[in-house]
Amino acid sequence: MDIFSKCTMNMGPLGRYADQSEGYFMFPKLEGEISNRMIFKGKERLIWSLNNYLGLANHPEVRKTDAEGAAHYGLAYPMGARMMSGQTDYHEQLERELAAFVGRESSYLLNYGYQGMVSIISALVDRRDVIVYDSEAHACIIDGMRLHFGKRFVYPHNNIENLEIQLRRASKLTEQTGGGILIITEGVYGMSGDLGKLDAIVSLKDKYNFRILVDDAHGFGTMGKTGAGTDEHFDVQDKVDLYFGTFAKSMAGIGGFIAGDKQVIKYLMYNMRSQVFAKSLPMPMVIGALKRLEILRNEPIHRKKLWNIVRALQNGLKAKGLDIGKTESPVTPVMLSGGVGEATQITYDLRENYNIFCSIVTYPVVPKGVILLRLIPTAVHTIEDVNYTIDAFASVQEKLKNKHYSEEMADISAV
Ligand SMILES: Cc1ncc(COP(=O)(O)O)c(C=O)c1O
Repeated sequence: MDIFSKCTMNMGPLGRYADQSEGYFMFPKLEGEISNRMIFKGKERLIWSLNNYLGLANHPEVRKTDAEGAAHYGLAYPMGARMMSGQTDYHEQLERELAAFVGRESSYLLNYGYQGMVSIISALVDRRDVIVYDSEAHACIIDGMRLHFGKRFVYPHNNIENLEIQLRRASKLTEQTGGGILIITEGVYGMSGDLGKLDAIVSLKDKYNFRILVDDAHGFGTMGKTGAGTDEHFDVQDKVDLYFGTFAKSMAGIGGFIAGDKQVIKYLMYNMRSQVFAKSLPMPMVIGALKRLEILRNEPIHRKKLWNIVRALQNGLKAKGLDIGKTESPVTPVMLSGGVGEATQITYDLRENYNIFCSIVTYPVVPKGVILLRLIPTAVHTIEDVNYTIDAFASVQEKLKNKHYSEEMADISAV
């Protein structure tokens, strides 16, 4: 059989909708300055998919620093991987400042959070070790575990009783193999917005011997009293062994970092294959990240603005009877019932008739019959945006109840 035959016969769970969806539901193009209003399909819409929690993307000092960094260094410098020819004082300075901010001895930069996470996991475990992980783990955690030759045990999302069962199994196994146990959880779950129960998980350290790695992509910059993350929120920074953050969300940039004890970070520095064998973060990204971190630390006003919008949005949606699940973070899911066809119709209605753009998530990312519309509030949204959106969602929910939407895929040929 031709290796390419699957490319026409089986496009995969998301690719199967490509013909009806591409350019609209999937791979949409949002144009203009990153802000609450951007252009989609030639029309201005209210955008809830900005990946810019604190509004730093367009902070004047950030824009200035990014431009100066690019003008001074270009995008090519430094030349290669950190280990070979990609090391600079600025990379090291950013690592020191990040470590201090998240209350760890040391940190190391990652050229994209995703690849970094894959390599953190694969560097830490060998065939004797056991990974215990949450069932809603992000794709980068799953991919990291695919490189693990040993056992992995999953616990249902945030189910601490079951986690203990898995820890008992893992302890039994590692007693035989002589390996160790790594628990992996997220700080903030990026689809549902609920928090990994870090306090409950670390309290199990009294009974079991394990290390814990927290992916806090959505929590870094948004959670905790200084924005240092979900482990700061739970006051367990000293018990979380490895803390992972990305620059792709609160920092409105690219890259990420891993922080922990000095010797462990030193080990990762020499053993994370996606970092050892791939180019270092370009200098403008590093200098830009230093500026973003400075603002994040020194201007709490942005986090305050974010949370004002978050509270208004979440309370308002709840007051109108919308189901926003168990979110405790800025991530705001709105759960409705229906199939993929109805989901596309609702999203089309929101985009074309209400001019609201948000992400739509359906099976297989969420269970069959669930439609998850994800709103990511930011510091650049306004209370008017919030009120308008709450009314629009209430109206959509009403229409859904009245069977206004059919089960057919929305026809996007006209837009
Ligand atoms: C939970 C989580 N982990 C890791 C990543 C990957 O980070 P990056 O975009 O920096 O590659 C993301 C998405 O951006 C994420 O949501």
